[in-house]
Amino acid sequence: MGLFTKKPMHLLLEEAGDSGKGLKRTLSAGALVALGVGAIIGAGLFVRTAAAAAQNAGPSVTIGFIIAAIGCALAGLCYAELSSSIPISGSAYTYTYATMGELMAWVIGWDLVLEYAVGAATVGIAWSEYLNKLLVEVLHTSPIPYEWCHSPFQSHPDGTVNGIMNLPALFIVGLLSLLLIKGTSESAFVNGLIVITKVGIVILIIVLGWGFINEANHHPYIPAATTYVDHAGISHSFGGFWGVIGAAGTVFFAFIGFDAVSTAAQETKNPKTAMPIGILGSLAVCTVLYILFAHVLTGIAPVEFFRTKGGEASVVAAISEYMTGYSWLSKLVTVAILAGFSSVILVMLLGQSRVFYSMSKDGLLPKMFSDLHPKFKTPYKANLVILVIVGLFAAFIPGDVVGDMTSIGTLFAFMLVCIAVIILRKTDPDLPRQFRTPWVPLIPILGVVACGLMILGLGWTNWLRLFGWLALGFIIYFGYSKKNSHLKDAK
Ligand code: ALA
Repeated sequence: MGLFTKKPMHLLLEEAGDSGKGLKRTLSAGALVALGVGAIIGAGLFVRTAAAAAQNAGPSVTIGFIIAAIGCALAGLCYAELSSSIPISGSAYTYTYATMGELMAWVIGWDLVLEYAVGAATVGIAWSEYLNKLLVEVLHTSPIPYEWCHSPFQSHPDGTVNGIMNLPALFIVGLLSLLLIKGTSESAFVNGLIVITKVGIVILIIVLGWGFINEANHHPYIPAATTYVDHAGISHSFGGFWGVIGAAGTVFFAFIGFDAVSTAAQETKNPKTAMPIGILGSLAVCTVLYILFAHVLTGIAPVEFFRTKGGEASVVAAISEYMTGYSWLSKLVTVAILAGFSSVILVMLLGQSRVFYSMSKDGLLPKMFSDLHPKFKTPYKANLVILVIVGLFAAFIPGDVVGDMTSIGTLFAFMLVCIAVIILRKTDPDLPRQFRTPWVPLIPILGVVACGLMILGLGWTNWLRLFGWLALGFIIYFGYSKKNSHLKDAK
């Protein structure tokens, strides 16, 4: 069987219908929107927004959000068509297998590790920053020593101490992996509660923070183009067109997750109608909140603050420093953020285990990744392996690095999803599609352009990391997966 062998559509649909043997179908459309918002609002908003303002765009990070949202909406429309016609677990991976063949499917499955596993690590690291706020500002105890909550590649701005490993990030990832092993429906219930808190807190910050906007911080709204060199000596395009595009690539992280909804297709009742609602609904809710939130955050504090004192746990740092009389808000936000980040990590770990599950069912990964727990019916062995991978990233790599790796990996996956829609319309024109992407091929092409532009904005260090990651993937594919693929037995 060749590299471009496609998984036959009838086989995919049979597998999807075979739910008695596989995962339980428990999620409704409402639960999916909650799952989506649960995955979406997280470290992207509460950590990466300030990073993008500091390194790339100042107040015009809001324009970055708009560009990122446009890219997501375009790719989201493509996702919705694919997920409503191929209602099976595995997200972009599965769609690519059906449309572009095995090698591309492997590339995307491997690439999705950046989105889900490395994304979960990024949020774990952000969780660790806010945990220190909890210890100091809420519980009035000492923070965790710098060396035990930072990666070995980070040193304190005053140069006195180096990181060793990020223990809190490792802890939260471990805890949530165990929760996932227990079962999806319980996890979705906990997630529902957290989503309500999270949305509430974002609205509260927008409403209360609005009065603290200092117009001077919004001028100039788009800073003049220059270069900013951060503490680690890395240069970033700041201001101007590329500043805004770079910011879009960074805050794109904040939208990641709406596509994770599609990975739960096999656990969804009526996936054909519920999927498009889940994907586009959660995206719409978040876009409005993000733009307002970023406007308020960059209005409260100047860019310089986010480059120095407010570089970590930036939202709470800004409230404490600039919103006098609102210490209760910073405490409440800290607690809510810790809970909110947990729900994001949960959904990302879930997404990752489902992608590995599908890849293993196809023989591209060892069988153990699809072994279900006899009682909980979850792919528990996959969860444990993922725990190790995510744990290593969370403990030893800085948040900025894993954050941008997540963005670039996901943007790349989105481009392939857009292309897949165009191909599938040609190869399987009669496939029943509950949801059809409008104006094909225009929308998918615009999706490719928007995501490609953000990839360009992320800069060459991130391109190199993406190439390195894909090269490692090719080694595994040709060393193991190609030989073990089940597709050769398919009729
Ligand atoms: N969108 C998710 C977040 O911002 C990944 O944390």
